[in-house]
Amino acid sequence: MNTIEKDILKVLISEAELKARVREIGGQIAMDYENKDPLFVGVLRGSFMFFADLMRVCPIPCGLDFLAASSYKNATVSSGVVKIDYDIRSNIAGRHIILVEDILDSGNTLYNLAGHLRDRGAASVALCVLLDKPARREKPIQPNYVGFTVPDEFVVGYGLDYADRYRNLPYVGVLKPEVYA
Ligand code: IMP
Ligand code: MG
Repeated sequence: MNTIEKDILKVLISEAELKARVREIGGQIAMDYENKDPLFVGVLRGSFMFFADLMRVCPIPCGLDFLAASSYKNATVSSGVVKIDYDIRSNIAGRHIILVEDILDSGNTLYNLAGHLRDRGAASVALCVLLDKPARREKPIQPNYVGFTVPDEFVVGYGLDYADRYRNLPYVGVLKPEVYA
């Protein structure tokens, strides 16, 4: 059978580790936002699996919405430019936002999206990322909730893709180098 598993060099974070850590974060957010009716905003598409699992272990009154963004590297400017392809539908004036993303890398995506949500009148914007890859940070940005800090390796699975593949792996893994070649 042709499976995606054969392209994986090693498992970085197992299903059991993901489940345990997501449960911890959900519990922490539930305590921090108990009476704040937060709005979880998932960044499509990478966050979908983390987002769904996180919501299930955060049993407080809350809402949810999604947006999608793509980032471009402008040849003349070193900072990434982020374009919003699909925006949230909710009115967020006065709402406490928990922006949920798969990975914080350069920081360009979340830096821009958080600014966008603040501009629309959010009372607060917290950043919740499954993975943090601090080695490549370009923007001054500090996540509020982090699942795991990862080394400067390209990882896939549990929502994260390479060329839109591997999102459906139930764990986070490192690809075999020959897959890029
Ligand atoms: P940033 O704007 O540089 O922080 O980039 C964040 C986005 O880059 C994430 O939403 C991912 O889509 C992508 N990305 C960064 N590192 C990885 C990785 O190791 N695997 C898969 N996607 C990644
Ligand atoms: Mg992404």
